[in-house]
Amino acid sequence: MPSVLVTRPLPSRVLAPLEALATVDMAPREGWPHAEIVARAAGVDAIISQLTDPIDAAVMDASSSLRIIANVAAGFDNIDLAAARARGIVVTNTPDVLTNAVAEFTWALILAVTRRVVEGDRAVRRGGWSGWALDYMPGMELAGKQLGLIGRGRIGRAVADKAAAFGMRVKFAKHDLSLDELLVTSDVVSLHVPLTEETRHLINRKTLVRMRRSAYLVNTSRGSVIDEEALAWALGEGLLAGAALDVYEKEPAVHPALLSFDNVVLAPHIGSATRETRTAMAELAVRNVVDVLNDRPAVTPVT
Ligand code: GLV
Repeated sequence: MPSVLVTRPLPSRVLAPLEALATVDMAPREGWPHAEIVARAAGVDAIISQLTDPIDAAVMDASSSLRIIANVAAGFDNIDLAAARARGIVVTNTPDVLTNAVAEFTWALILAVTRRVVEGDRAVRRGGWSGWALDYMPGMELAGKQLGLIGRGRIGRAVADKAAAFGMRVKFAKHDLSLDELLVTSDVVSLHVPLTEETRHLINRKTLVRMRRSAYLVNTSRGSVIDEEALAWALGEGLLAGAALDVYEKEPAVHPALLSFDNVVLAPHIGSATRETRTAMAELAVRNVVDVLNDRPAVTPVT
């Protein structure tokens, strides 16, 4: 019987097809240290991983029978793709099933930061609200404004599709405008690129100074697309109206300076976290493993 290593728990109702086919070694909620993943990977045929667990050459070399690494995420920057390719190991992710959930959450962040929802909640809770006032907590209206999207993959396009509901004009970097023109003209800039060597710190001191002082920055992609130190500097200098982040450079740590800004919304990497989508992601990862172990092509290989 083949064996499958699962680096974080999956919902029990998606496991049946896997358990019918293979022995399953599943980590507890807190996961395993890297060395234990390497040790437990010995002789396995498949690994189902999550983005908190780096899957590098050491893990891959623990088993000569490893055929597939199925990441339960759209992103796959936790997996050494070159090492997998060199060893002929299939890598899969879970695109499509999370597109809508992440797009909805991007809009949740856009609305939260432009309309000061979280800041307002904090004021109410600490007794800092003294009643309705004409000039109290004004935000930015979205209608008629420009939404600048960096990344025109499935999630970026799904965010764009929902923009009409808010009366926003959408521009994509590279496609409609150069990155610089996009930064200079947009009222909200939202990031939807994978983390690669080209996109690491794409948002840095140089690009941040190009943004409007009245503009908001939103990130539901990967933390390291933004240089957090530079973002903290730009916010401190008043170069931006605010930011809403779901992802960070060193999760679960957040750059301490970002914690002090009232105009920054900080979410705990929950962009795809709907019950529907998280189940569908786990199901798709299981399906990829079942297919490969049955000598069929994976449904969603990373290419
Ligand atoms: C989450 O960040 C994912 O890549 O699915």
